[in-house]
Amino acid sequence: MALKIREFEGPIGAEVLGLEPEKPLAPDELKLLEDTFLRRLVLRFRDAPMTPQSLCGFSRQFGELQPHIAKQYRLPEAPEVVLMINQDANGNFDKVGAERGVGWHSDLAYDWAPARCTFLHAVAIPSRGGNTKFANMYIAWDKMPENLRKRVDGKLASYRNGGRLGLNQGIQKDEDRSKDVVHPVIRVHPETGRKSVYANPYHVVQILGVPRAESDALLDELFAWCEREEFQWQQEWKVADTIMWENRSAWHSGNLDYPLDELRKFYRTTVRGTPTVDRAEAEKLLAAA
Ligand SMILES: [Fe+2]
Repeated sequence: MALKIREFEGPIGAEVLGLEPEKPLAPDELKLLEDTFLRRLVLRFRDAPMTPQSLCGFSRQFGELQPHIAKQYRLPEAPEVVLMINQDANGNFDKVGAERGVGWHSDLAYDWAPARCTFLHAVAIPSRGGNTKFANMYIAWDKMPENLRKRVDGKLASYRNGGRLGLNQGIQKDEDRSKDVVHPVIRVHPETGRKSVYANPYHVVQILGVPRAESDALLDELFAWCEREEFQWQQEWKVADTIMWENRSAWHSGNLDYPLDELRKFYRTTVRGTPTVDRAEAEKLLAAA
């Protein structure tokens, strides 16, 4: 086998050496990558340039690709690829584009079947800054103080794009509840069986069955714990890097700390995951909340 693994020091991540993205993975290579991914949550492939089509071909080996819900983000030549770019069509800085992905979250947690994993391939990067941070939510759970654990374990919460922050800032309204979905606060991983913190600051709205103010206070306490640096690792991007990350047991966040007049451009694909709850049952809970 041509692939080699070098695990990063720290709580999350491993480098994969020797990838040839145009070539299908052999069964033993795919198994090695899947096993390492489940254990380390973040894989980095360096010096492996990809076209939108080759990123699709590579990432599809890990599951069914999920096109972005917003058609304007899809690339015409490869509709399953989302263009992540900080400039508009005229080359002007695009604040909305640049702010996508900034703030701790996991992808598609506002969907009933949130993402399994995401692939991000660097096409152009700024001269400094713009790192992506990752945090291991298994360890956040494993090390969590018992008195916090017992207040969040077994709870369900409502989630939406923008979460309670959008609600509390008045950007979203309570009437928007029809778009809410339900996931556990502490999730059992469908493949490893391990528990991790699934709620994230960017998507969670409210712990079901808990009054709003009390839910906010508990979530603030939970997230203050989860944001500890000991759970984190940062990717310093190079052109032609690809990162594959877990969305079921890891958080990630972009950094808007780079020169904003410099181009930052990535291709992204997302592999579909599985629902976390029985939707019909969860919708009854939402209606009662
Ligand atoms: Fe993301």
